[in-house]
Amino acid sequence: MPGLVVVGAQWGDEGKGKVVDLLAEQADLVVRFQGGNNAGHTIVRDGEVYKFHLVPSGILYPGKLCAIGNGVVVDPKVLTSEIDDLRRRRIDISGLRISANSHLIMPYHRLLDQAGEAKLGKLQIGTTRRGIGPCYSDKAARLGIRMQDLLDEKILRKKIYAAMEPKRLTLRPFAKDPELDLHTMTEEYRILGHRLEPYIADTAPIAWRILDEGGLVVFEGAQGTMLDIDHGTYPFVTSSNPVAGSACVGAGVGPRSIDEVWGVAKAYATRVGAGPFPTELDDELGEAIRGVGGEFGTTTGRARRTGWLDLVALRYATRVNGLTGLVVTKLDVLTGIDPLHVAVRYLGPEGATFEEFPYHQSILHKARGDLIELPGWHENISGCRSIDELPRNAQSYLEYISDFLGIPILMVGVGPGRDEMIWTRAAERVRAAAA
Ligand code: IMP
Repeated sequence: MPGLVVVGAQWGDEGKGKVVDLLAEQADLVVRFQGGNNAGHTIVRDGEVYKFHLVPSGILYPGKLCAIGNGVVVDPKVLTSEIDDLRRRRIDISGLRISANSHLIMPYHRLLDQAGEAKLGKLQIGTTRRGIGPCYSDKAARLGIRMQDLLDEKILRKKIYAAMEPKRLTLRPFAKDPELDLHTMTEEYRILGHRLEPYIADTAPIAWRILDEGGLVVFEGAQGTMLDIDHGTYPFVTSSNPVAGSACVGAGVGPRSIDEVWGVAKAYATRVGAGPFPTELDDELGEAIRGVGGEFGTTTGRARRTGWLDLVALRYATRVNGLTGLVVTKLDVLTGIDPLHVAVRYLGPEGATFEEFPYHQSILHKARGDLIELPGWHENISGCRSIDELPRNAQSYLEYISDFLGIPILMVGVGPGRDEMIWTRAAERVRAAAA
């Protein structure tokens, strides 16, 4: 069972971190392949709360190989502070590796992200303002600064100069910002590079070696399919590809190294930031789900928009990622909501219906989910550890999803705790094969 990709099948925040953390126990390597510190996840271990934005889930297993792949954009200040925090708490992070080819988020990227959003006004995307978009733009424009550049002061200074020059006009309002001084920036980043140096590596060959030996590599995606820059609800997306195909590019392996693709989806839907959301519940029920589900961003603290499960979008995510199975998280949040609804097609203007996810933005922006009703349940499900133990209606809800998508349900989250997870036989098989 060598290569297993874990991706978000919705708009991010599906609980991938917990799934990867559980799989990491058996994994020989966990590698993140895209995104940056726009992502965030919380892991509770032995009553201690750990919040990560960049470090891969899995770092809490002593010495576990955890790589930040070439496809990730790294804010070195954020990464060093995560490393400091883990060391302070005496976590063994000797297994951390950072790709020398990963790109760096620079101070001007953060400022450009903020300025860009401010300029868009009402049309803003609602980015996390962490500089993600401008950093990926520079990467594509071949003006990016990579992790390896931190290790050579002369190269670093030249590259910072070359990257800032074309932005001079846009950065004019920040001209006096000391963060943007070439010398100060070069010196600050040189020092950060010095601190990160022990972890900087050529990460792709680490994955190749483990795959060759038949070990388990878990490819950890960030954000979700509907935020994908190519396949999501453009332009209300992030600037990378959270879909499974990008695991190959962002970690440096070929498609033949991928054996399984697990999608993670909540039992309902959420979205942070602006953009289409056909099953949004802009009412008291939506508010209640937000409260029970604790739907506030780990990174920005923003309230997430909530809605019914959107099976049209989820079937699209199944195809785009080639999902081999689905992990359904937070099923417990739906306890007591009766009846439940799920969207099985979209309704457009003038009575039009759409069975498949529409590519056209004008349709998508006006689409509303055509909802069907499914019976809810009232029993507390947090103690269930197998599908059979779930109330009949909860089982039917999962069966309906699985039949609609044509893929098996692999795991089901029934509470926030690490052990509050149902492992189906298919998921257990992966765990056993890797052990
Ligand atoms: P950016 O990735 O900061 O450029 O933000 C672009 C869009 O993606 C915004 O709507 C963000 O709210 C959203 N986004 C980025 N990262 C995450 C995430 O980890 N979870 C949920 N939404 C995210």
